[in-house]
Amino acid sequence: MAKKILIVDDEASIRESLAGILVDEGFLPVLAESAEEAFPLLAEGDIDLVLLDIWMPGMDGMEALQRLKADGQNLPVIMISGHGSIDTAVKATKMGAYDFIEKPPSYDKILLSINNALNLARLEQENQMLRQKAGQAPTLTGNSEVMVRLKEQIARVAPTDAWVLITGEHGTGKELVAQTIHRLSGKGQVPMVEVNCAAIPEDLIESELFGHEKGAFTGATTARKGRFDQADNSTLFLDEIADMSLKTQAKILRILQEQKFERVGGTRTISVNVRVLAATNKNLEQEMAAGNFRADLYWRLNVVPLMVPPLRERLDDLPLFVEEFTREFASKGFGRKKFTAEALQAMSSHPWPGNVRELRNFVERVVIMNPEEEISRATILGLLPVRTAGPHGVAAVEPGLYRLKNFKEAKRAFEREFLRVLLQDHQGNISQTAEAIGMERSHLHKKLKALDMEES
Ligand SMILES: Nc1ncnc2c1ncn2[C@@H]1O[C@H](COP(=O)(O)OP(=O)(O)OP(=O)(O)O)[C@@H](O)[C@H]1O
Ligand SMILES: [Mg+2]
Repeated sequence: MAKKILIVDDEASIRESLAGILVDEGFLPVLAESAEEAFPLLAEGDIDLVLLDIWMPGMDGMEALQRLKADGQNLPVIMISGHGSIDTAVKATKMGAYDFIEKPPSYDKILLSINNALNLARLEQENQMLRQKAGQAPTLTGNSEVMVRLKEQIARVAPTDAWVLITGEHGTGKELVAQTIHRLSGKGQVPMVEVNCAAIPEDLIESELFGHEKGAFTGATTARKGRFDQADNSTLFLDEIADMSLKTQAKILRILQEQKFERVGGTRTISVNVRVLAATNKNLEQEMAAGNFRADLYWRLNVVPLMVPPLRERLDDLPLFVEEFTREFASKGFGRKKFTAEALQAMSSHPWPGNVRELRNFVERVVIMNPEEEISRATILGLLPVRTAGPHGVAAVEPGLYRLKNFKEAKRAFEREFLRVLLQDHQGNISQTAEAIGMERSHLHKKLKALDMEES
């Protein structure tokens, strides 16, 4: 497809001559007389590169560049100026411009710069995709009967376009299942777009999902694409769907049915083609009965139900998980540990309310807190949460904490331990835990993410 290039310049003669050249070279030029005019065009989201004049009445090129970059847009920008000075050029490149070209622009030079910038952008995108593939190609560990069955179901449903509702307790691997479906769907080259419905503040969820036009609300200085837009021709993973308000559910239902929507503050209707995978750890039937979840939305999302079993129902896989996680932590420089058969046995009698996530964090703790290479049953029993003393079953502060080198590390270790125990007390329910400790739900989510306790 022809690359779209936005030319922003107040001089008509420059705009037109540049556009002529670009057309000859097989590009698709789009013209704007001012930065103010350029932003709505950029908001359409399909511009591949910007040629930006520096001196313009109204907002100048430098300010426009700054806004573009502040908005997190990764578009290549080439600055053009009649008042070229080294200083401005340096400043523009520092602010993230790809190149700086003086007026009157030499056409060879500008074409070369455009082609280089587009090549670089493509390479960066490819690199990012490769990194994703190599770094975290998600694989579902497990040979137990229930896991083998789940993997078969995944393999069958992935290549179809069917929508899937993934249910299962906290930390069972629902997100990993979604990633696996996406990877096996044939759309794996493009990233899956994830939305954590619980982590987005209620008043921002619409703008997050549908995007917004410039000026839609205070702070909306530029227009922005929503997640539905980003997931066009790909997979959209709606995580923790039971945490959406009824109002948001109604809006989502409409898009899911029509695959059409308007951005916040906009009137234009945008059509997309999106495959939706949804996940929740709540019982949606109960939520429906309680009036918290719309039945029509439930039926729309639940075309193929996949249930990820809790870890206690696949304890056969526990040694395999331990093996995989110790290998992973060893590769991070913590030393290669070996769990004895008795240690694994002791771990099998723990109920693992936090499922695979709890197990992974536990193995990490064991690896970090124990200098010995061999992990014995006694060590495990000493570290497995003792649920007897104190209001939260915290028997005593772990002795290992006092060996930590600095305050920052100790604080982090305490926060992790504190949140781990409280989450466990609330069966991993983030909303309840947040309420219990007087924290906002979205803040707790961020905290867990910062502490590496939560992948989503
Ligand atoms: N079968 C598995 N193989 C390997 N790792 C797994 C497996 N299942 C879960 N994990 C790991 O456990 C952690 C939790 O998994 P994930 O985030 O997918 O769970 P979840 O069900 O989405 O949890 P939540 O309900 O809290 O969102 C992740 O680190 C994930 O990589
Ligand atoms: Mg999840």
